[in-house]
Amino acid sequence: MTAPQSHHALPIPNGWFAVAWSRDLEAGQVVKVHAFARELVLFRTRAGKPVVLDAYCPHLGAHLAVGGRVVGETLRCPFHAWRFDETGGCVEIPHCASVPPSARLRSYEVVERNEMIFAWYHAEQKPPDWEVPTIDVIGHPDWTPSRRVDIDVAVHMQELAENNFDPAHFEIVHGTPLPPPSDYEYSQNGRFVRAVSEMKRETPIGTFDTRLVRETFGLGLSTVVSEGIPGVGTMLFVSVSPIDASHSRMRWLLTVTKNIADTFGEEFMTGIVKGVMDDVPIWENKIHRDKPVMCETDKHIAEFRRWTRQFYSD
Ligand code: FES
Ligand SMILES: [Fe+2]
Repeated sequence: MTAPQSHHALPIPNGWFAVAWSRDLEAGQVVKVHAFARELVLFRTRAGKPVVLDAYCPHLGAHLAVGGRVVGETLRCPFHAWRFDETGGCVEIPHCASVPPSARLRSYEVVERNEMIFAWYHAEQKPPDWEVPTIDVIGHPDWTPSRRVDIDVAVHMQELAENNFDPAHFEIVHGTPLPPPSDYEYSQNGRFVRAVSEMKRETPIGTFDTRLVRETFGLGLSTVVSEGIPGVGTMLFVSVSPIDASHSRMRWLLTVTKNIADTFGEEFMTGIVKGVMDDVPIWENKIHRDKPVMCETDKHIAEFRRWTRQFYSD
């Protein structure tokens, strides 16, 4: 018997996922979002609060992001002007004295952090059990304004996250070996993983013992930080969100200390984007092997796969 060939054997994981960049959503703005294999409406209230709701009106099914309008702290349906608040409850129906209790939309918990808007998705609608970390160098006066890149890839998001735990592909796909992490630490109830790689780095101002710190927060958020050269730092924040079970959106945010912005910032960003582009054809054409044949170099992948199970409801 041959193994079944499925490209997308994994469901949508539970977690915090970016649905937009903060700066792309002004007060009063309404945006159509497809994420978690659902149609969603994202809007910012007049007071500035971002809100995510299921998109289809419980009345006759209009798409709230297509012609829907922010009215104060609520969203008004374009079809018959029912209004919904941030909890998804209908607060007003024109010409009707009472609102049926079932007039409500699924709402998603939202946090705005690190210049992004995150929504909590859980297949069983359970509340969040971990927090999006605050990356303190984002927006820090000693660090450059962030550079941003968005990349959509036709693959399940777990394949993107797995890349980070796959040292063997670095040399082959990217032409640069990755120094092995000396150490993996787990925190926040095991939802976060931190890997530190030590290496000597030669720079125009001397040779330093540096560290590359890679952190993963849930299935979809990660940072790559370089440390060890006094006064100099680079930070990459990566968010991966499930558009559906076979499409992912990556959002990359890069910031570096201002003292290297002119000499290093541009090359760093270009290098990163090129690096990801090397992975894309592999990702978009691979299948997901639930039980891959593994060898000695795949130890971290096996660990990573075990760790990911906590993010699935099945
Ligand atoms: S469809 Fe939304 S108010 Fe009628
Ligand atoms: Fe890669």
